[in-house]
Amino acid sequence: MEQQINLVGKTDQQAVALLRSSLDQPEVWDSIMVTVDNHGAGILDALQQQLWGRFEWYPIQPGPPVWQFMLTRTAAKMAKRGIGEFLGADHRRCDELFIELENAVQANDSARAQTLFSRFTVGMEHHFAMEEEVFFPAFEQATGMTQGPTMVMRVEHRQMRGLIGQAAQAMAQGKLEGVGRACATLMILMRQHNIKEEQMLYPMADQHLGGTVDGLVRSMQKHAAANMVRS
Ligand SMILES: [Fe+2]
Ligand SMILES: [Fe+2]
Repeated sequence: MEQQINLVGKTDQQAVALLRSSLDQPEVWDSIMVTVDNHGAGILDALQQQLWGRFEWYPIQPGPPVWQFMLTRTAAKMAKRGIGEFLGADHRRCDELFIELENAVQANDSARAQTLFSRFTVGMEHHFAMEEEVFFPAFEQATGMTQGPTMVMRVEHRQMRGLIGQAAQAMAQGKLEGVGRACATLMILMRQHNIKEEQMLYPMADQHLGGTVDGLVRSMQKHAAANMVRS
């Protein structure tokens, strides 16, 4: 069940108090769509300090004038987070959005396809940015491997961005068949890419980065929020 909460005009402190009281009512919601009038970094920072391991925070719509995020509850409270656990869960979220998008395209429901396409592309860009700007540099620094798996992953991100661009063009022209075609190729690339990361890169990272992993996950979650500005 998805709830909405409008925090426009509230201070960060008021916003956090409202979100915390919502988070304490497990029967009420699974996900809350949060609308704020800033990039949400102050709210997220306070949530991380107070409720670390209990929530996920996904960008939905960049501002200005308003920014939207999805706050979801994690299945279980985690004392420390891991690369594979955090980024793997983000893969599954993007996969779910992608399946919903494909269903909307197949049903020829262009309004729903537009909404889902926007959520999917923001989600993918958020994921790529977390990996390329926070995770990969930390991995490269810890292992000294700059020409290895992260280089291959960056190339594959570029290929996927190309296909997302093609789908975006088709979407802007209202050509849902074109969106479907680009998505079909994208799905194959995404699957192969995610398997490589989940089976090789993320476990290597969890092993090599040791005690710094939990802090790295905090930085990844914060990274996109702070940088999310409408282009
Ligand atoms: Fe990736
Ligand atoms: Fe990934």
